[in-house]
Amino acid sequence: MVVGHDAFVKVLGDHDSFSVSDYARKMGVIGTFLLGREFTPAYSDEIGALRRAMPPEDLVRIRQIAADEAGKQFGTASRRLDVGRELARPVLLALVDKYFGVPATGTPLFDWCAAVSTYVFTPDVFLLPDAHTIAADAGARMRDHIGKALDVCARGADAVADTVIFRLAHAEGSHGLGADRVLDTVAGTIAGALIPTFQEFVQVVDVLLDLSPQRFRDVQTIARAEKQDLLLPSILEAARFSPRPPLLARECVRRADVGGMRVSPGTVVLAVAFTAAFDWKIAPRPWRFLAGRPPAAYPIFGYGQHHCVGATPERPIAQTVMTQMAIQLLKQPGLQRASGPLGRAGLNGDRLFVEWD
Ligand code: HEM
Repeated sequence: MVVGHDAFVKVLGDHDSFSVSDYARKMGVIGTFLLGREFTPAYSDEIGALRRAMPPEDLVRIRQIAADEAGKQFGTASRRLDVGRELARPVLLALVDKYFGVPATGTPLFDWCAAVSTYVFTPDVFLLPDAHTIAADAGARMRDHIGKALDVCARGADAVADTVIFRLAHAEGSHGLGADRVLDTVAGTIAGALIPTFQEFVQVVDVLLDLSPQRFRDVQTIARAEKQDLLLPSILEAARFSPRPPLLARECVRRADVGGMRVSPGTVVLAVAFTAAFDWKIAPRPWRFLAGRPPAAYPIFGYGQHHCVGATPERPIAQTVMTQMAIQLLKQPGLQRASGPLGRAGLNGDRLFVEWD
């Protein structure tokens, strides 16, 4: 494991010394996509095609989908919900339905993606014995499911014409990818959009609920005014406390020095995102909640060639979706944690119950 900001940047930024082969090996269960590819022509083709299929103009639509779907989750009489399963999950599934063009709501797609994502991002030593079998089965079902969505695109159905999968499937000439690579790209991107956003959002809310009453009132005031730009710095600062996935793996392929340590080829190095976000050199007084720190204090979307494509300055999809969900949640009067363990995200962070008046 390597800790600190400099080591994080070195391991993720030095592509000649550190490869993504460890991810590639595991991603075989769904079909290797972007994050498992070295900086090759295949990688450039796929990332280029994906960027064109998710143009920055789409953000307006993405914001609307997230706001509408998040708003719907507060119509119930119970005045209590699980931030993960009853807010983030339906919003993200709607995004996959309406924006990516793959049927998600009412299907097991989320659970398949979770199985694959857990397998890919968990170091081997922590994996349960049946993790590979479960991920392989989930991966096969995902491919089958996305394959059917591709068949619908091939028939040119109007209902999916303005979606990411349709644009990828219909890209022309040198911009086009073969059907298998469209499938790989869509499978990986959907898993990348669903699972980290779900997990990160639960963590963000958990941190915000620990703010002092005065500061919590401040973020609620901003949320009620629906000021996305003013709320985003607090969302990112909350994410800094618990980046997801917490460990990013690379395999050393050429002898390298990291933080004064010699790393030999064949070593799998785990960059600990939390230690980069809490490095005093870039985030002084790291335990303080201080929204609006310099960009380097937010290594939550990775670094280097594989930096998250859904969270770049020109395409801040993750930031937009999280902020819209937070706006709808924080608006609720008297918002607080549910009592007992259900009101804490805990180590796994897959559920967090809140209540309001
Ligand atoms: C809060 C939400 C998100 C978080 C915390 C997050 C985090 C990350 C991180 C840390 C990486 C780099 C992993 C590494 O280098 O080992 C990454 C890559 C990636 N993410 Fe995200 N992500 C989020 C949302 C999204 C969304 C919404 C999308 C799609 C719209 C997406 C698509 C991808 C893809 C395709 C890659 C691989 C990029 C490449 O290899 O060039 N992610 N993400």
